[in-house]
Amino acid sequence: MHIVHISVEMAPIAKVGGLGDVVTSLSRAVQDLNHSVDIILPKYDCLKVNHVKDLHYQRSYSWGGTEIKVWFGKVEGLSVYFLEPQNGMFWAGCIYGCKNDGERFGFFCHAALEFLQQSGFHPDIIHCHDWSSAPVAWLFKDHYMHYGLGKSRVVFTIHNLEFGANNIGKAMAYSDKATTVSPTYSREISGNPLVASHLHKFHGILNGIDPDIWDPYNDTYIPVPYTSDNVVEGKRAAKDALQQRLGLKKADLPLVGIITRLTHQKGIHLIKHAIWRALERNGQVVLLGSAPDPRVQNDFVNLANHLHSSHSDRARLCLTYDEPLSHLIYAGADFILVPSIFEPCGLTQLTAMRYGSIAVVRKTGGLVDTVLDVDHDKEKAKAQGLEPNGFSFDGADSAGVDYALNRAISAWYDGRDWFNSLCKKVMEQDWSWNKPALDYLELYHSARK
Ligand code: ADP
Ligand code: GLC
Repeated sequence: MHIVHISVEMAPIAKVGGLGDVVTSLSRAVQDLNHSVDIILPKYDCLKVNHVKDLHYQRSYSWGGTEIKVWFGKVEGLSVYFLEPQNGMFWAGCIYGCKNDGERFGFFCHAALEFLQQSGFHPDIIHCHDWSSAPVAWLFKDHYMHYGLGKSRVVFTIHNLEFGANNIGKAMAYSDKATTVSPTYSREISGNPLVASHLHKFHGILNGIDPDIWDPYNDTYIPVPYTSDNVVEGKRAAKDALQQRLGLKKADLPLVGIITRLTHQKGIHLIKHAIWRALERNGQVVLLGSAPDPRVQNDFVNLANHLHSSHSDRARLCLTYDEPLSHLIYAGADFILVPSIFEPCGLTQLTAMRYGSIAVVRKTGGLVDTVLDVDHDKEKAKAQGLEPNGFSFDGADSAGVDYALNRAISAWYDGRDWFNSLCKKVMEQDWSWNKPALDYLELYHSARK
C-alpha cells in the first residue's frame, strides 16, 4: 500500500508536540511492514535541516498565483517532500503562531494535493492530521477526487479536539475513516457534536513510541547505555549527570521530572502543586516546559526565580524547549508526572516507561489506557496481560495529586528493591507501534473496501 501523510509537523525537524512524533514514528512502523510511505511538509525557514539527509531541490510548480518549490530529503529513513511557496508563507520563523495560520495551512493543504495530482501520484491512502491538515479531506472530496486522485481514500486523525472545531467538523464529515489517538479519548469525545454523527467510521487507536528513537541503550544524550538488565546503574548515572548539569545537589533523592507544553490541557495548577509537594517530601524536581502564552511563561519565570532561591539545590525549572535535555530527564528521573486535565493519548508517560521511569498521571484519555495503578489496577492489568506500572489519580484538585504522588514517593523511600524491580518491569513493557501500526493498516485496508 502507498500512504501519503500531509502534515504540518514532523519530528525531529518540525516538532511542536506529540503530533510531530506520531507522524514520524507511525510512518516508520508502517514502512517497516513493507508499505510505501511519503510525507508532505511545508518547508519552514525554521526547519531543523541538519536532520534532513540529502536535501535537494527537485522542481517547481505553480499554484494559487505563486511558484512552489519542491524539495526532497530523507528524515529518519522516510521520504519527505517539502513544499516552499515563494510567497513566503512559511518564512515566518515559527511553525504556529502567525495571525494567518488558518490561511497558511489551508494553502499548504491545497498545494499538497495539487502536488500529488501534478506529479501523477496515486496513493492508496492520504492521511491528514488535526485542524491544520484537515482541509485535505474536503478539498479532496470536492475537487481532487474527480481529477486524477480518484483511487485514493482519506483518513483523518484527531490528535486534539480542542483546536480548530470548524476544520475538524468538516474533515470528520468528508474523510473515509477517522481516528483518534486512544480508545479512552475516543469514548470521551464520542458525544461531541463534531464526532457524534460519524461514529460508524471513527476508531480509537492508541499511539506508540519509536523504540529506536527513544532507546536508553543507544542514546547519545545519556552517560551510560542501559537496558532493563542494568537499569539501576544506568539511571543512577543519568541522575548524576542531570544533577550536575542543572546544578542540583548530588544526592540520592526521589527525582520528579515534568516534560510538557505549559498549557491549560496539561494541568498547570496541578503541576505547581506537585512541585511543592515533592519538595516537602524531600524530593528533587526538574521541569522542562515552555508556554505558548506569554502570561503563563511569565508566571513560571517568577516561580522559577522563587524556587531557585528557596530550593536551589532541589528544584530546577527549565522554561524552554530542549530535546537533548528531555532525554536526560526521561533517563535521570525516578518519576515523570503527567497531571493533564485532558490527554488524547500522551507520549511522555510512554517514553518515561521506555527509560524505566515511573509515570504518575491523572486518569484521563490515553493516560487511562497506558498507566495502570500499582495499588488499584491489578485486575485491569491482568485482563490486559500486563503488570501494573505506575500511579494515578482521579479528580482535578490538589488532593488527587497528593494521593498519587505521596504513594509514589513513599514507595521510593520504603522499598528500593521493590521500586527498582518496578523500573525494570516497566522498561520491558511494549509501548511501541508493533500493535497499533497493524491496527492502522487494517483501518487503511477497510477504507479501501
Ligand atoms: P502534546 O502533543 O499534547 O504536547 P505529548 O505527550 O503527546 O503531548 O507529546 C509531547 C512531546 O513533546 C513529547 O515527545 C515530549 O518529550 C516533547 N516535549 C514537550 N515539551 C518539551 C520541551 N519543553 N522540551 C523538549 N521536548 C518536549
Ligand atoms: C496531541 C495530544 C497528545 C497526543 C499527541 C499525539 O498533541 O495533546 O495527547 O499524544 O497529540 O497524538
